[in-house]
Amino acid sequence: MAVDLLLGLQWGDEGKGKIVDVLTSNYDIIARFQGGPNAGHTLVFNDKKYVLHTIPSGIFHNDKINLIGNGVVIDPVILNKEIENIKEENVDISKTLFISRKAHLILPTHRLLDAASEKSKGKNKIGSTLKGIGPTYMDKTGRNGFRVGDLESKNWKTKYYDLSKKHQQLIDFYNVELDFSLEDLESDFFEAIEKLKKINFVDSENLLFESQDKNKSILAEGAQGSLLDIDFGTYPYVTSSNTTAAGACTGLGISPNSINDVFGIFKAYTTRVGSGPFPTELFDDYGKTMSKAGNEFGATTGRPRRCGWLDLVALKYACRINGVTKLMMMKTDVLSGFDKILVCTKYKYRGETIENLPYNLSEESLEPVYEEFEGWSENLRELKSADNLPKSLNKYIDFLESELNIPIVIVSVGPDRKETLFR
Ligand code: IMP
Repeated sequence: MAVDLLLGLQWGDEGKGKIVDVLTSNYDIIARFQGGPNAGHTLVFNDKKYVLHTIPSGIFHNDKINLIGNGVVIDPVILNKEIENIKEENVDISKTLFISRKAHLILPTHRLLDAASEKSKGKNKIGSTLKGIGPTYMDKTGRNGFRVGDLESKNWKTKYYDLSKKHQQLIDFYNVELDFSLEDLESDFFEAIEKLKKINFVDSENLLFESQDKNKSILAEGAQGSLLDIDFGTYPYVTSSNTTAAGACTGLGISPNSINDVFGIFKAYTTRVGSGPFPTELFDDYGKTMSKAGNEFGATTGRPRRCGWLDLVALKYACRINGVTKLMMMKTDVLSGFDKILVCTKYKYRGETIENLPYNLSEESLEPVYEEFEGWSENLRELKSADNLPKSLNKYIDFLESELNIPIVIVSVGPDRKETLFR
């Protein structure tokens, strides 16, 4: 049985959590494959809102397996808070939540290292969520990491203290002022570890092999977005994992030839939180309206998201890298009431017009070239069917589909599960 992938095509915050939740009924297993609590997957149903950081977005369906894969980095303190938050929905994690033994743990000192590294960069900072993501993945690839499975060995605390001591020397090396009490952080960490140990640890690749043999259906859930990919994103203003389709193979142990559909999620416009280039960024009233109407504040950090028009050059690139087979357009309702909608279809760059992403998107000579579309004024949130979409929105959708040569199968018109139009 095949695996479907679901991933963000922009700089994150596309609305992956909502769509995973909507699609979960079609699958037996939802498996998160990369990232960590830098992610904030927001789900709205029954007039309630939940933000998940580490737990897969299928968790509210009690008959599904939710797997935190080996490619994910876990902060036990944050994971426990998430578990506490969802308790009121009667989620039975003892039966539905599984964690890969090969997933790496974020230690308190990883978070401090993240803060020290960012502080030392001054105005060149990445704009990290400061959740310890970079340092944890550095320890993973540096072969020093602390994995969930290590907690099953008797001397795990020795391993912990060895690594933590090394981190403290590195923090000193940065020579920046940080306000923290390691003692307090460690006390929270150790308490959280005891709770973490009660969750099901598994050799997740085996769980997935067996599930595939039994014809179970699997949805691999990505975090962040393709333009934050460590290899293909706007480096160095990226996260530290492969957010693109290949990351699902390494982050879960699924083979490329078991992948069926790749669902690519994008907003009808673009947002970015943190530093880094953003060619279509708006500083005018259109941008301010997007920010306000879309409530564009980071789900993890609360920081305002930068807003801009849809960048089709970047979107095409992301579709190619991921092999997207079906597109899902999010937050379309946010654009209601705009007198015009612009889409960047090319860039002017060093005196030429180009249709691909150049090596350095930060260059001042890079300028978006736009096509203009008529806006619509209808309140899309009230629509019950994609057959009733306004004419000018249909023109926008048709244009995107023909440029990308991929069907847009979902148009999302609000944060609630119910505000989802299938095409
Ligand atoms: P880090 O992964 O927390 O180190 O952050 C690196 C960059 O990725 C920063 O610009 C963050 O704002 C951005 N980032 C990380 N996670 C997310 C996310 O889930 N949504 C949007 N941006 C993110």
